[in-house]
Amino acid sequence: MMKAFSLLLLSLFFWMMPGAASAQSDGKLELPAVSELSGTDLFEAVRQRQSLRAFSEKELSLQDLGDALWAAAGVKTPGGKWVIPFARRTDPTFRVYVTGKEGTYLYNGAEHVLEFVNERDLRAAVALQDFVAEAPVVLIYVANPEPLRGKDASRPLPELLYSVYLSCGASMQDVYLTAAARGLATCYIGSINSGEWLKSLNLAEDDIYFGAMPLGYPVE
Ligand SMILES: Cc1cc2nc3c(=O)[nH]c(=O)nc-3n(C[C@H](O)[C@H](O)[C@H](O)COP(=O)(O)O)c2cc1C
Repeated sequence: MMKAFSLLLLSLFFWMMPGAASAQSDGKLELPAVSELSGTDLFEAVRQRQSLRAFSEKELSLQDLGDALWAAAGVKTPGGKWVIPFARRTDPTFRVYVTGKEGTYLYNGAEHVLEFVNERDLRAAVALQDFVAEAPVVLIYVANPEPLRGKDASRPLPELLYSVYLSCGASMQDVYLTAAARGLATCYIGSINSGEWLKSLNLAEDDIYFGAMPLGYPVE
């Protein structure tokens, strides 16, 4: 009941935003089609990439959110290859959650939809620095390196984690570059707060929360 209510609220909220979303009957929130062009030359975006730690109060448009999520953990075309390179051609070994005042959602890159997780706004809990909670949304990175083990059960965890974190670095940079290209503000946060709030994501025992990225518009 709560889930249905939150989804309804979210879809109404997003309905009023540029690039409106639609809630499906299975509880998934469809994101707008990914933009064809960023509007900024790649090298220009590389030059402009920066960490910004102050956010305007303006809500993030669903188009900008969807485009940033796609760059972080999406699929190039439906049924196609992942945007981010992954070791051993596995499916992604990390997941990206989105939290904000409308609740917490899991990004499903294969379908380019947001899946409802719970109604909690976790922005103030995920990190140790206060500015993180001032962004309209925060991306939460959770990894699970186990699929990389393959048939070799003896592979040490640090070896698996190298591969996971390299993919995550690519994802983080994609979010930074999307932000630079679209006039957004973001900052990778390694100083995370692994508190009780993590239980609300129903993580597996071997899931690892390791980073966050607040995302919004810069202050004028
Ligand atoms: C692995 C990693 C962890 C980081 N953790 C934090 C953090 O916890 N808090 C923060 O404000 N910035 C963090 N940053 C952002 C760096 O401070 C920032 O990238 C660096 O100062 C260079 O500035 P620039 O990104 O504007 O070029 C992190 C960056 C990386 C790559």
